[in-house]
Amino acid sequence: MNSFIKFSAIITACAAFLFSAHTETAFAADGDSLQLAPMTPAPLELGRGVNVLGYDPIWNNFEQRRFKAEYFTKIKEAGFDHLRLNIHPFRHQLGADEGYRMKDEWYQTLDWIVDNALRNDLKIILDLHEYNAMSEDPEGNRERFLSFWRQMSDKFTSYSNRVVFELLNEPHDKLDAKLWNVYAKDALAVIREKNPERPVIIGATQWNSINLLHTLELPADDPNILVTVHYYKPMRFTHQGASWVGEELRNTSGVTWGTDEEKAAVVKDFEEARKWGVDNNRIVYLGEFGAYDKAPTESRVTYTDYVCRTCEKMGWSWGYWQFDSDFIVFDVKNDKWVEPILGALIPNSPVLK
Ligand code: BGC
Repeated sequence: MNSFIKFSAIITACAAFLFSAHTETAFAADGDSLQLAPMTPAPLELGRGVNVLGYDPIWNNFEQRRFKAEYFTKIKEAGFDHLRLNIHPFRHQLGADEGYRMKDEWYQTLDWIVDNALRNDLKIILDLHEYNAMSEDPEGNRERFLSFWRQMSDKFTSYSNRVVFELLNEPHDKLDAKLWNVYAKDALAVIREKNPERPVIIGATQWNSINLLHTLELPADDPNILVTVHYYKPMRFTHQGASWVGEELRNTSGVTWGTDEEKAAVVKDFEEARKWGVDNNRIVYLGEFGAYDKAPTESRVTYTDYVCRTCEKMGWSWGYWQFDSDFIVFDVKNDKWVEPILGALIPNSPVLK
């Protein structure tokens, strides 16, 4: 047995133990309690999830939405347990003189989404996706940031823990580890005034780097913090041909994925993060992963499946990037699942033929 196989065997054995110990609470259908175990990071507390609605016209005009009400049901039926809702609220806030209050129409849209998610037995993460604005000008956006969380905190006080807050997607640039720790602490304090036990997700700087968890300073006396990581390594594979990355990657194509060495790199990253989670008594959540549509399909499927299974072996919940727009798992135009990707995420999904 080579060392990688041996390593995988150890991980599989640990995972079998974790699943046997926690499956009941992980998928408890009791509805209201997202049971957070303060002592041992419990697997799949959020279960299987998908990122939704970040780039949907719904936010500017409800009538022009791509996301239909029936999708909540379809997502549930496919085997997902939660949604990670990507929110860009700054453009929907009133001015400083009005305390950056969110506009009424925005609340109507948010209510439609949250109510539909909960009605369909999907937990929902409110992910503040203003990562570029916040990272480029933290000080200039500080009040907007804190005001947003104050308003969410007020609004969701009486909601169950099935509504989860995520402080900020992928801090980077000026929000380096030192400054991000200050911003996260301040936002958490605002939330804790009225939501002392709501699950709050926080990730490290450098786009929620899986390798920088040690830079996070989290209050030891708050057990209801989950720690998120994003995984797109190697970028040369997952972001080949993407328009929003550097020139070299933008012009890269035909990169495949799936050698033993590449798989071992995933296991190494995940295993280090798992160890950090155990040592620091934190549940780890993989909030984004996937490979852009321009990568070769077969490798995308292999990669998605491998990252997802490795994540589950660690005992973590996950959220795939994303439902619609790009990296898609659902084809809105043709109103059907992208079966190879769905199958890679949820191999036994009831909606797969
Ligand atoms: C960003 C998306 C991007 C994805 C993968 C997300 O956090 O919001 O715009 O496509 O990461 O790069």
